[in-house]
Formats: sequence, structure tokens, C-alpha cells
Amino acid sequence: MITPLDVLRRLRHGARRLSRKRLVDGPLTFAEDGLATQHSTAFLEDPRFVRAYAAGKATGSWGGADIHWRAQVACWAGAHAARLEGDFVECGVNRGGLARAIIEFVGAEAFRSRRFYLLDTFHGLVEAQISDEDRAMGRREGGYEECYDAVVDTFRPFPFVEVVRGTVPDTLPRVTSERISFLSIDMNCVPPEIAAAEAFWPRLVRGAVVLLDDYNFVEHQPQRVAFDAFARARDVVVLPMPTGQGILLKP
Ligand SMILES: C[S@@+](CC[C@H](N)C(=O)[O-])C[C@H]1O[C@@H](n2cnc3c(N)ncnc32)[C@H](O)[C@@H]1O
Repeated sequence: MITPLDVLRRLRHGARRLSRKRLVDGPLTFAEDGLATQHSTAFLEDPRFVRAYAAGKATGSWGGADIHWRAQVACWAGAHAARLEGDFVECGVNRGGLARAIIEFVGAEAFRSRRFYLLDTFHGLVEAQISDEDRAMGRREGGYEECYDAVVDTFRPFPFVEVVRGTVPDTLPRVTSERISFLSIDMNCVPPEIAAAEAFWPRLVRGAVVLLDDYNFVEHQPQRVAFDAFARARDVVVLPMPTGQGILLKP
């Protein structure tokens, strides 16, 4: 029988083996957040993205890290969803970095008749939800500083934002929307992530985007396995992103 620890050992072995290879020939245009490429990074010069990224980064959500390409994908997904009818939901917010970047990129006027729900404990993972697999991958209770008051302050200028404090899935009924066009899932923990996807899938409008922040990270393999099964059951396929994210579109 293959245990979660076996999976972890194999992944670490694979990563060590790959790290001895010269993976991407230079000159590199981008090397950050686990992604190196020679391809165009023109988006980094786009003033609209520059403003959005700065607003997200200023929340402190990403610590000292930079996640330009992931943030670009989130902004793109938000801009797409803003052309559809439906509310925005993020489960796993921390200090609101991605949500704040998306609002800046899309513009507050896009939220004239939609809400943006932000769901989080605002103090990290919940012990009872951490599976043996997640534990083997390094997940632990907590892991994030208390930040509810900071998040409320960050989003005070945006009355369409509803900050929902508590544990997913307990708080899911507080999202009363019948139509949702954007769902971001980023809780670093399988059970609440799948619970959120199951609860909201029927309410996603056609073309809605589901952004899975953890899906394609090596240290989040349980999420990939769980979301592949979720997608298979609905006859859709997750797009694995070189950024570590995954994207689902609602048919
Ligand atoms: C990686 S962070 C989210 C990062 C965020 N999307 C950003 O833009 O920076 C993961 C978050 O998930 C939250 N979280 C983990 N398990 C949760 C649960 N069961 N219910 C609500 N929030 C949870 C943590 O408190 C933490 O803030």
C-alpha cells in the first residue's frame, strides 16, 4: 500500500532529480514563484496590472514573496468573470492580496450590481480538517497570523465586499448568491476546498471561472488528486498551470 509519506518521498526525489537538470535555457525573462521561462512578460509593463499588483502586495498577504504571474492569472480570471452576470467568491483570503488586486484590475464600477464574498478563518488552517495526506505534505493547524481587522480595513472603501469570518464549510450558507461568476479556492487544505467547490458548482453561471491556487504545486498533490476527481465527476478537466494554479470553467 502506498502511504502519503511514500508519495511525499517520491515527489521530493523527483524534484531533486529535476533540479540537477538545466530546465530552461537562458536568457530567462522570468524566474519567480517556482516558474522560469524565456517567454514574453509584457504583462509586467501593463500599467493596469502594475497598479493591481501593487495594491495586492500592499496588503501583506504574500509576505516577502512575489507572485506576479499568479496574480496576473487571477486578474485575468476576474476580468473575464466581470463580463458575466454573477457574484465573486474567494475561500481562503489571508490579508486579501489576490482579492484586492482583482478589484483594482477590474475596477470598482464592475461591482455596481455584484458582491465579492471573502471567506476565511482569518487565523489559519483548522486542525480537524487536516487529513493524513495533507499532514504528510507539511500542512499544520494555524500557520497564518490573525488578520480579520486588517482585512476589514483594506476593504472598507469597497462596500460591495462582504468579509465572512469562520470555518469553511460552516460559513458557506452565508454566501446567499444564486449566481456566481468567479470562485477562487485557496485554503491549502482538501476538505474545505472540495466542500466549497461542491456547494458553489451548481450556482456557477455558464462560463464562470474557478481558480484553484494550490492545484498544481508539488506540495499540494492531495488537492490535485481531489480536484481531478471532482472535475471528472462533472465531465470537465482542470487546466494545470505552470504557475502552480489550476483553472476550471463551468460549461
Ligand atoms: C494561502 S492563504 C490564502 C491566500 C490569499 N488567497 C491571498 O490572496 O493571499 C490560505 C488561507 O486559507 C485560510 N483557511 C484555511 N482553512 C480554512 C477553512 N477551513 N475555512 C476558512 N479559511 C481557511 C487560512 O486562514 C489562510 O488565510
